[in-house]
Amino acid sequence: ACGSDEGSGGSTASGDGNGGDDIQELTIKFSHVVAENTPKHQGALAMKEYIESESDGKIEVEIYPNSSLFGDQDEYQNLAANNVQFIAPDLTKFVGNNPQFNVPALPFMFDNDEEAIAFWDGEKGQEILGSLQDDGVLGLSMWPNGGKHITNNARPIDSPDDFEGLKFRTQGGQVLESIYSAMGAGSESIPFGELYTALDQGVVEGQENTFSNIESKKFDEVQEHMTIMNHTRVDYAIFTNTEFWEGMNEATKEIVQAGVDEGTKVAREEAMSLNEQALETIRERGLVDIIELTDEQIQVFRDALEPIYDEYEDEIGADVYEAAREAAG
Ligand code: LMR
Repeated sequence: ACGSDEGSGGSTASGDGNGGDDIQELTIKFSHVVAENTPKHQGALAMKEYIESESDGKIEVEIYPNSSLFGDQDEYQNLAANNVQFIAPDLTKFVGNNPQFNVPALPFMFDNDEEAIAFWDGEKGQEILGSLQDDGVLGLSMWPNGGKHITNNARPIDSPDDFEGLKFRTQGGQVLESIYSAMGAGSESIPFGELYTALDQGVVEGQENTFSNIESKKFDEVQEHMTIMNHTRVDYAIFTNTEFWEGMNEATKEIVQAGVDEGTKVAREEAMSLNEQALETIRERGLVDIIELTDEQIQVFRDALEPIYDEYEDEIGADVYEAAREAAG
């Protein structure tokens, strides 16, 4: 149920009758599922500030955080319907549309934001971001969050065997699901907005996420153990509605595109430090015990998850693996 839906319509930039030279009056909605103190929201804010100031207030950008407008279940359909003009979902939520969106879930592929950025800015990454155009959805640029870590309520986890018999929440199926089944665990994808309650009520024992998501959504209140793994990532791209995007006149589009670039810059600059600060806050709160693995322990996980690469090679593509490995150096 979405009580804050402000009604139908959505923004179209067409039909302004101004010949295309004046900035059009527009209200643009940006919906996302995470909290304010996160790289995604900081990127969205930078974009809003830029666009509103450069357009002298003619273009207004409304940001709806915390699934307050749309959640994981319905944001994509509402983007396709132009009820919202920008969303920036975790890319693994699109694996049902195109399995190549599994890249952030490939175990231990990228060590850091730079490597992931290099992949998504490259030719293959751009091709994948452009693959939703049949739905009227266009991926513009990648915004990183960071590496994911495991939290759970059952036991301190430091080896693949510790997963046996547990159930974890994932963002999207396919590769993430295979990661858990390779370690003898079950998994279920649950919308982000429902995750705190699902953890609290024991629907699943655990989940994987970035420090900034764990901290800002206070998952440590309902989890006992956290293992620093960095085995998979949360990476986003900012997506827009093609009809909206192409309907803007040149003067308007120039400002909105520059606003997206500004948001991209800030999201990329802030992601790592926001995650480091979030880890500090989690430590200070002291609600979860934090397990840091040795290189040898990480290697055991790498070996256990290696077969996933063969399992998905046909579906994701050897060319995508190659581009990702190249970006990872
Ligand atoms: C999650 O669902 O855990 C994350 O992908 C949420 C987000 O957008 O970072």
